[in-house]
Amino acid sequence: MDDLIYLDNAATAWPKPENVYQHMVEFYRKCGVNPGRSGYDLAVEAGNILEDLRKRLTNFFGGDEDAPERLCFGYNATDALNLIIFGVLSPGDHVITTNLEHNSVIRPINHLVRDSQVEATYLPFGSDGFVDPNDIKKAIRPNTKLVIVNHGSNVIGTIQPVAEIGAICKEKGVLFAIDSSQTAGVVPINMQKMNIDILAFTGHKALMGCMGIGGFYVRKDVELRQTRAGGTGVDSAYPYHLERYPYRMEFGTPNLVGIASLWAGQDWIDQTGIENIYAHELKLARKLIDGFKNIDGVKLYCCDNLENHLSTISMNIEGMEARNTGTWLDVNHNIATRTGLHCAPLVHKQLGTVDIHGSVRFSIGAFNTEAHVDSAIKAVTEIADWAKKHPEQVKKA
Ligand SMILES: Cc1ncc(COP(=O)(O)O)c(C=O)c1O
Repeated sequence: MDDLIYLDNAATAWPKPENVYQHMVEFYRKCGVNPGRSGYDLAVEAGNILEDLRKRLTNFFGGDEDAPERLCFGYNATDALNLIIFGVLSPGDHVITTNLEHNSVIRPINHLVRDSQVEATYLPFGSDGFVDPNDIKKAIRPNTKLVIVNHGSNVIGTIQPVAEIGAICKEKGVLFAIDSSQTAGVVPINMQKMNIDILAFTGHKALMGCMGIGGFYVRKDVELRQTRAGGTGVDSAYPYHLERYPYRMEFGTPNLVGIASLWAGQDWIDQTGIENIYAHELKLARKLIDGFKNIDGVKLYCCDNLENHLSTISMNIEGMEARNTGTWLDVNHNIATRTGLHCAPLVHKQLGTVDIHGSVRFSIGAFNTEAHVDSAIKAVTEIADWAKKHPEQVKKA
């Protein structure tokens, strides 16, 4: 739809840069054979892009330059986080995480707590939306094996102080993992400098790849238990899944067209500049917030200060259920937002928004414009005016 105003980039970045679409089609047409399984030229060429992208992303995330094989590809962040959480924790271990997490962290941990004698601590965030690194320090026990934190909240947009948390984990000898789903591609990350042991990423958000590609980087001195097994394309006579990286954590035919999309996404990020992408998005977020602040009846969550903040803004209109505001924006203004709990139920529990079905999330992306923000402010003004004039009807609207 040409006139759709897409403000749901935290769900998936869309549209993608033009070079991503082009490269996916061209690469898949020219080279869409199974990489690493055969010795003919095309299979080698398909394998090369995979290996080159490992190096490129290792560098992009500040992993160990001499160990690009520890950049492992999978389907998405959920897949990566499952491999990480089930690969690190054993019965008797304790894990520290936060109320900011997505269900892709909460649910695997809860399964282990329920089924495998793992203990978990969920730390709350402050009223400003940030987790206090000192709370993490205090929560560390002798059996704490892992601290895992959502780098950028997909609900309130706050960017957590991962370098400080990493320093604490290093000092205490605890593994530190981050979920970079919302930050990779828009916030610079350096695993070595930030003392991050394991990083999970998804390809389809700010990394500008397509859906169905993601993965993780695991630092050299960290071991992950295999929790799956299958084809690797090499050493087929060996009766078990290979232990060496990247095979150790990759299973079956990779998503080659997804790899091509991430490659082109990296080209686009390099050309545009990660700082410029962030600055553009944040400028629009500031405009959106300033506009919303002038509307009577709008409640904003954790965005008083945009320092260490993504361009993801959650709000509600007094008296309105989030889903009704979202439907109004969609039906009357062709504005796409996401309402509900955003797969992050603990955030909403802490914000006290579960009973009104969460919040309305406006998530700005690289291709949004000032005109999109103006339209969103105008639409919210209209809804808030109506809500004020019809207090008896708002719940039903
Ligand atoms: C913070 C966070 N973690 C994990 C995920 C899961 O990503 P995917 O659906 O690509 O696995 C998302 C997706 O919205 C997210 O926002």
